[in-house]
Amino acid sequence: MASRSARTWRSAALRGLGLLALATLATTASAQADLRHARDNYLLHCSGCHQPDARGKPSAGIPDMRATVPLLLATPAGRAFLIQVPGTSASALSDAEISGLMNWMMPALIGRHDVPAFSTEEVGRYRRQPLDDVSAHRAAILNDGASTTPDKATGASPGPM
Ligand code: HEC
Repeated sequence: MASRSARTWRSAALRGLGLLALATLATTASAQADLRHARDNYLLHCSGCHQPDARGKPSAGIPDMRATVPLLLATPAGRAFLIQVPGTSASALSDAEISGLMNWMMPALIGRHDVPAFSTEEVGRYRRQPLDDVSAHRAAILNDGASTTPDKATGASPGPM
């Protein structure tokens, strides 16, 4: 009797472990699917201008985001600008897709692993504050950034662009 209940217990425990392993696998798989979805969205909606690796084409007015995004991240207005800029805010993507895209892009393309995640709510808030004059607003933010220390992650110095 005792050994039978021990066996029952053991098989229940093993089943529990199996379920736990499955749940962990499912979570990992869905996180990976989210990342793939974010990368696909970037490739479909952004890379035509920004290039697959975010280098852009500065000679044609498309900034090299690997250099400019860290500078913009230095101020709250710059963080908002990443979402308010027409390429992002006027895209066909939902707020949730944009937050996923940004949270994928920061480490994957910009090389920044320390950026607080964008929430869907934060994206929606910035998106509802469109900019009147994008290039003047951008220049003002970057000039504000010039008074702060050079960005440690890139070693770039936030001088005139
Ligand atoms: C039609 C070309 C084009 C497309 C498509 C585009 N962008 Fe842009 N993006 C630009 C230009 C040009 C700028 C510079 C600011 C400006 O004049 O709008 C820019 C600026 C940015 C910036 C701020 C960096 C900086 O230095 O100003 C971010 C972040 C950004 N884009 C993200 C995106 C994302 C994300 C997508 C896709 C959802 C996207 N863009 C699609 C052209 C584009």
